[in-house]
Amino acid sequence: MSVSTNKKPMNAKKIMEMKGKAPIVCLAAYTTPIAKIADQHCDLILVGDSVGMVLHGLPSTQGVSVEMMVMHGQAVRRGADHALVVVDMPFGSYESSPEQAFETAAYIMKETDCTAIKLEGGAHMAQTIDFLTSRGIPVMAHVGLTPQSVKGIGGYAVQGRGEDHQRVLDDAKAVQDAGAFCVVLEMVTEELANAATALLDIPTIGIGASNQCDGQVLVVDDMLGMFQDFKPKFVKRFAELGIDAQAAIQTYAKDVRSRAFPGADHVYADKK
Ligand code: KIV
Repeated sequence: MSVSTNKKPMNAKKIMEMKGKAPIVCLAAYTTPIAKIADQHCDLILVGDSVGMVLHGLPSTQGVSVEMMVMHGQAVRRGADHALVVVDMPFGSYESSPEQAFETAAYIMKETDCTAIKLEGGAHMAQTIDFLTSRGIPVMAHVGLTPQSVKGIGGYAVQGRGEDHQRVLDDAKAVQDAGAFCVVLEMVTEELANAATALLDIPTIGIGASNQCDGQVLVVDDMLGMFQDFKPKFVKRFAELGIDAQAAIQTYAKDVRSRAFPGADHVYADKK
């Protein structure tokens, strides 16, 4: 069952056409209730593999499976009529060959009814992006900090400083030339994000990048303030739901122990 927002569904072409016209609002989300809210305000909902860390308590995104992405992709799709739903391809499901990537992407798209997939990597993934896009699969690319390879790049560090600037720009250009309809720039310098946004014809979607990117993405649980122990510089908290949840659950426990809950309003009387 999907909600109706009375807005026409987004597609990859419409996202591309927003470049230079209006900032593209994206949110990484994983559940139907949040997707229903995001669908009213966002252009694109990314079912990110960050779901593994955010909802499943994994130490990194490397343990995320295709089936996890399918389950959360289906949940988000049930809540989204308007926003473009993009599902991440998890670590190990696409890197070994363009054919492997096609099989995974086609499976995810069939099972979730999402419109596009996302994969991480720059120039070295260009051949795969070309293989997918020339077979009708819209691809959102992701360069700069690529969390799936965080062990190989030495941790969650800002990318594109000094001599690294040109490498990340080359990556962004390579994924564009291979056919990606937009590209996430994660944890790169502001200068680099601005340069990439000016250089590319496709939209740049920043996270820890620059307000001059063509769009922005954040993880919904981060921007809602669900975690007290995770506060990266690039996350602005638009709410403090973690603090509210803590207080609510503490009060619930107290009320159960004191038998204040359930009260008269929460119980059923026999029929008179
Ligand atoms: O997995 C994810 O949520 C992402 C975004 C943060 C870009 O890749």
